[in-house]
Amino acid sequence: MFKIAVLISGNGSNLEALIDACNKNIIKGKIDIVISNNPEAYGIVRARSSNINNKIIDNKEFETREDFDLALSQEIQKTNPDLIVLAGFMRILTPVFIEHFIDKIINIHPSLLPKYPGLNTHKSVIENGDTKHGITIHFVNQILDGGKIIAQGEISVKKNETEEELKKRIHSLEHIMLPKVVSKFADGSIHKD
Ligand code: GAR
Repeated sequence: MFKIAVLISGNGSNLEALIDACNKNIIKGKIDIVISNNPEAYGIVRARSSNINNKIIDNKEFETREDFDLALSQEIQKTNPDLIVLAGFMRILTPVFIEHFIDKIINIHPSLLPKYPGLNTHKSVIENGDTKHGITIHFVNQILDGGKIIAQGEISVKKNETEEELKKRIHSLEHIMLPKVVSKFADGSIHKD
Protein backbone atom coordinates (compact mmCIF):
# COMPACT_ATOMS: atom_id res chain seq x y z
CA MET A 1 0.00 0.00 0.00
CA PHE A 2 1.31 3.44 -0.99
CA LYS A 3 1.84 5.37 2.24
CA ILE A 4 1.38 9.11 2.51
CA ALA A 5 2.37 11.56 5.25
CA VAL A 6 0.64 14.94 5.17
CA LEU A 7 2.14 17.98 6.91
CA ILE A 8 -0.15 20.89 7.69
CA SER A 9 -0.23 24.14 9.64
CA GLY A 10 -3.79 25.35 9.31
CA ASN A 11 -7.24 24.77 7.92
CA GLY A 12 -6.39 21.56 6.11
CA SER A 13 -8.81 21.87 3.21
CA ASN A 14 -6.22 20.27 0.93
CA LEU A 15 -5.80 17.49 3.47
CA GLU A 16 -9.57 16.98 3.32
CA ALA A 17 -9.39 16.71 -0.47
CA LEU A 18 -6.71 14.04 -0.09
CA ILE A 19 -8.73 12.15 2.53
CA ASP A 20 -11.76 12.16 0.21
CA ALA A 21 -9.71 10.95 -2.73
CA CYS A 22 -8.24 8.08 -0.66
CA ASN A 23 -11.71 7.13 0.60
CA LYS A 24 -13.02 7.06 -2.96
CA ASN A 25 -10.00 5.06 -4.09
CA ILE A 26 -9.07 7.83 -6.55
CA ILE A 27 -5.76 7.76 -4.73
CA LYS A 28 -4.72 4.15 -4.36
CA GLY A 29 -2.94 4.77 -1.11
CA LYS A 30 -3.40 5.57 2.53
CA ILE A 31 -2.66 8.63 4.63
CA ASP A 32 -0.66 7.05 7.43
CA ILE A 33 -0.03 10.19 9.41
CA VAL A 34 -0.98 13.86 9.54
CA ILE A 35 1.43 16.12 11.38
CA SER A 36 0.83 19.73 12.32
CA ASN A 37 3.34 22.18 13.73
CA ASN A 38 0.40 24.27 14.93
CA PRO A 39 -1.66 22.94 17.85
CA GLU A 40 -4.65 25.05 16.70
CA ALA A 41 -4.69 23.71 13.14
CA TYR A 42 -8.21 22.73 12.11
CA GLY A 43 -6.68 20.10 9.85
CA ILE A 44 -5.95 18.03 12.96
CA VAL A 45 -9.69 17.96 13.73
CA ARG A 46 -10.26 16.77 10.16
CA ALA A 47 -7.68 14.00 10.59
CA ARG A 48 -9.19 12.92 13.88
CA SER A 49 -12.71 12.78 12.55
CA SER A 50 -11.48 10.54 9.74
CA ASN A 51 -9.61 8.34 12.24
CA ILE A 52 -6.24 9.12 10.73
CA ASN A 53 -3.19 8.84 12.90
CA ASN A 54 -2.19 12.41 13.78
CA LYS A 55 0.41 14.25 15.74
CA ILE A 56 1.08 17.82 16.81
CA ILE A 57 4.73 18.77 16.93
CA ASP A 58 4.62 22.36 18.10
CA ASN A 59 7.60 24.23 16.69
CA LYS A 60 7.40 26.72 19.57
CA GLU A 61 8.56 23.97 21.91
CA PHE A 62 11.89 23.66 20.13
CA GLU A 63 14.84 25.98 20.50
CA THR A 64 16.17 25.59 17.01
CA ARG A 65 14.81 24.82 13.58
CA GLU A 66 17.14 21.80 13.49
CA ASP A 67 15.66 20.39 16.73
CA PHE A 68 12.14 20.76 15.40
CA ASP A 69 13.02 19.13 12.10
CA LEU A 70 14.71 16.26 13.90
CA ALA A 71 11.53 15.56 15.89
CA LEU A 72 9.51 15.84 12.69
CA SER A 73 11.85 13.53 10.87
CA GLN A 74 11.74 10.92 13.65
CA GLU A 75 7.95 10.93 13.65
CA ILE A 76 7.78 10.57 9.88
CA GLN A 77 10.28 7.74 9.86
CA LYS A 78 8.02 5.70 12.14
CA THR A 79 5.62 5.26 9.22
CA ASN A 80 8.25 5.26 6.47
CA PRO A 81 6.00 6.97 3.90
CA ASP A 82 6.40 6.78 0.13
CA LEU A 83 5.39 10.43 -0.20
CA ILE A 84 5.37 13.46 2.11
CA VAL A 85 2.85 16.09 1.09
CA LEU A 86 3.23 19.64 2.38
CA ALA A 87 -0.40 20.76 2.28
CA GLY A 88 -0.36 24.25 3.72
CA PHE A 89 2.68 23.51 5.87
CA MET A 90 4.03 26.97 6.63
CA ARG A 91 7.51 26.14 7.91
CA ILE A 92 10.78 26.30 6.07
CA LEU A 93 12.49 22.93 6.34
CA THR A 94 16.19 22.55 7.05
CA PRO A 95 18.60 21.15 4.43
CA VAL A 96 19.21 18.06 6.59
CA PHE A 97 15.51 17.23 6.63
CA ILE A 98 15.09 17.84 2.91
CA GLU A 99 18.16 15.80 2.04
CA HIS A 100 16.92 12.91 4.16
CA PHE A 101 13.63 12.69 2.28
CA ILE A 102 14.82 14.02 -1.05
CA ASP A 103 12.52 13.24 -4.02
CA LYS A 104 9.78 12.20 -1.62
CA ILE A 105 8.54 15.63 -0.54
CA ILE A 106 6.08 17.66 -2.59
CA ASN A 107 4.54 21.03 -1.85
CA ILE A 108 1.45 22.82 -3.07
CA HIS A 109 1.92 26.53 -3.55
CA PRO A 110 -0.72 29.13 -4.44
CA SER A 111 0.99 30.86 -7.35
CA LEU A 112 2.33 30.19 -10.80
CA LEU A 113 5.92 29.61 -9.73
CA PRO A 114 8.51 30.93 -10.29
CA LYS A 115 6.24 33.93 -9.81
CA TYR A 116 5.54 34.79 -6.18
CA PRO A 117 7.39 32.31 -3.98
CA GLY A 118 6.73 32.81 -0.25
CA LEU A 119 3.68 34.43 1.29
CA ASN A 120 0.77 36.69 0.29
CA THR A 121 0.54 35.45 -3.27
CA HIS A 122 -3.13 36.42 -3.84
CA LYS A 123 -2.44 39.94 -2.58
CA SER A 124 0.55 40.28 -4.90
CA VAL A 125 -1.49 39.13 -7.89
CA ILE A 126 -4.16 41.75 -7.21
CA GLU A 127 -1.72 44.55 -6.38
CA ASN A 128 0.23 43.93 -9.56
CA GLY A 129 -2.88 43.78 -11.70
CA ASP A 130 -2.03 40.31 -13.02
CA THR A 131 -4.58 38.75 -15.33
CA LYS A 132 -3.49 35.18 -14.54
CA HIS A 133 -3.07 33.38 -11.24
CA GLY A 134 -2.70 29.74 -10.35
CA ILE A 135 -1.21 26.96 -8.33
CA THR A 136 1.94 24.90 -8.51
CA ILE A 137 2.74 21.46 -7.17
CA HIS A 138 6.47 20.87 -7.01
CA PHE A 139 9.19 18.74 -5.50
CA VAL A 140 10.79 20.31 -2.46
CA ASN A 141 14.46 21.13 -2.61
CA GLN A 142 16.59 23.55 -0.63
CA ILE A 143 15.43 26.62 -2.54
CA LEU A 144 12.20 28.06 -1.14
CA ASP A 145 9.38 27.09 -3.55
CA GLY A 146 12.11 26.35 -6.07
CA GLY A 147 12.02 22.58 -6.70
CA LYS A 148 11.13 20.87 -9.94
CA ILE A 149 7.58 21.64 -11.04
CA ILE A 150 5.24 18.65 -11.30
CA ALA A 151 1.98 20.37 -12.25
CA GLN A 152 0.49 23.83 -12.56
CA GLY A 153 -3.07 25.05 -12.89
CA GLU A 154 -4.07 28.49 -14.09
CA ILE A 155 -7.12 30.71 -13.73
CA SER A 156 -7.95 34.13 -15.17
CA VAL A 157 -8.30 36.91 -12.61
CA LYS A 158 -11.72 38.53 -12.89
CA LYS A 159 -12.15 42.27 -13.12
CA ASN A 160 -12.41 43.78 -9.60
CA GLU A 161 -11.97 40.38 -7.98
CA THR A 162 -11.15 40.62 -4.27
CA GLU A 163 -8.32 38.77 -2.58
CA GLU A 164 -10.83 36.56 -0.74
CA GLU A 165 -12.68 35.64 -3.92
CA LEU A 166 -9.45 34.83 -5.67
CA LYS A 167 -8.20 32.76 -2.76
CA LYS A 168 -11.44 30.76 -2.75
CA ARG A 169 -11.13 29.94 -6.45
CA ILE A 170 -7.47 29.03 -6.03
CA HIS A 171 -8.42 26.66 -3.22
CA SER A 172 -11.00 24.97 -5.42
CA LEU A 173 -8.35 24.43 -8.07
CA GLU A 174 -5.94 23.05 -5.47
CA HIS A 175 -8.56 20.58 -4.25
CA ILE A 176 -8.87 19.18 -7.77
CA MET A 177 -5.19 19.15 -8.68
CA LEU A 178 -3.49 17.91 -5.53
CA PRO A 179 -5.39 14.59 -5.34
CA LYS A 180 -4.75 14.04 -9.06
CA VAL A 181 -1.01 14.50 -8.62
CA VAL A 182 -0.85 12.32 -5.50
CA SER A 183 -2.82 9.59 -7.29
CA LYS A 184 -0.19 9.63 -10.03
CA PHE A 185 2.55 9.11 -7.47
CA ALA A 186 0.55 6.25 -5.96
CA ASP A 187 0.13 4.48 -9.30
CA GLY A 188 3.78 5.06 -10.19
CA SER A 189 3.21 7.38 -13.14
CA ILE A 190 5.16 10.24 -11.53
CA HIS A 191 8.64 9.84 -10.20
CA LYS A 192 11.70 12.07 -10.02
CA ASP A 193 14.14 11.49 -12.85
C1 GAR B 1 -3.06 26.47 0.35
O1 GAR B 1 -3.58 27.48 -0.47
C2 GAR B 1 -1.63 26.19 -0.01
O2 GAR B 1 -1.35 26.32 -1.37
C3 GAR B 1 -0.90 27.22 0.79
O3 GAR B 1 -1.58 27.29 2.01
C4 GAR B 1 -2.95 26.98 1.80
C5 GAR B 1 -3.37 25.94 2.81
O4 GAR B 1 -4.76 25.74 2.80
N1 GAR B 1 0.48 26.91 0.95
C6 GAR B 1 1.44 27.80 0.97
O5 GAR B 1 1.24 28.99 0.88
C7 GAR B 1 2.84 27.23 1.12
N2 GAR B 1 3.81 28.18 0.73
P1 GAR B 1 -5.39 24.52 3.57
O6 GAR B 1 -4.77 24.47 4.97
O7 GAR B 1 -6.87 24.82 3.62
O8 GAR B 1 -5.09 23.27 2.78
